Amino acid sequence: MATAAMVAEFGDVAGWTAEAVEQLGAGHAIPAACRGSSSPTGLAWLAEACEFAPGDRLLDVGAGVGGPAAWAAERFGVRPILVEPMHPACRAAAQLFGLPVVRADGGRIPLRTHSVDVGWCLGVLCTVEDKAALLGEMHRVMRPGASLGLLVLVTRQVQLLPLPEGNHFPTQGELVGLLADAGFDLIQQITRPDDCPRSWSRRAEQVAAAIAAKHQADEAYTLAARQVERLARLLAAGQVSIQLVHAVAG
Ligand SMILES: C[S@@+](CC[C@H](N)C(=O)[O-])C[C@H]1O[C@@H](n2cnc3c(N)ncnc32)[C@H](O)[C@@H]1O
Repeated sequence: MATAAMVAEFGDVAGWTAEAVEQLGAGHAIPAACRGSSSPTGLAWLAEACEFAPGDRLLDVGAGVGGPAAWAAERFGVRPILVEPMHPACRAAAQLFGLPVVRADGGRIPLRTHSVDVGWCLGVLCTVEDKAALLGEMHRVMRPGASLGLLVLVTRQVQLLPLPEGNHFPTQGELVGLLADAGFDLIQQITRPDDCPRSWSRRAEQVAAAIAAKHQADEAYTLAARQVERLARLLAAGQVSIQLVHAVAG
């Protein structure tokens, strides 16, 4: 069940992002639409680990505004299909990138069994209560032997600082157990490199500034900003780390 803060962060801000990109230009779309979870360095690591090939059908669950999927299509020639529950995010992804989007919960993916070649789920697991259902559904729709790329926020200790509303960060042990229980073999895991090129973060920041200029008096803006700030404090305190994971559907 999404809280008001989650609706603000993943719904309202998604719509505002598309609006700001329209204003600033299409070159801003991908950096702005990688909604906080990704950098091109992290995306490249995952795409190489998963051995993306032209024509592969890529399932992106919790795709948000579609930046990572659009990046993968542009760089590797994969054919993404986005699954995302928030209506404004679905609309924004279709509007910015023309990608096929299915509005659905990751725990009930309306796709055929074994119908996709590779899967991504980036910055999503911590926002989902039933992580087992989401991973189980991804395993069902991915073909046997298909690669799964995850970006997961993992907690290192008992969290002391306030969490972003509606977030439940798995421990490393829980993550390993969830993957195994869903039928995935964990191949490799690294801590996400922190080196986002300035040219990329500058475009994302310009979009964020345009959104702030227009919407900072909105209650949804305040709620979403508090979510981002809470996560930033957890990361800065080392209570949560960003992990990139390559697993394979067994
Ligand atoms: C931090 S955003 C990441 C978006 C995108 N993956 C990216 O990296 O830019 C988390 C996304 O997960 C989506 N989400 C939340 N609960 C979900 C669920 N049960 N199933 C699928 N997606 C979900 C949210 O709507 C949001 O778009």
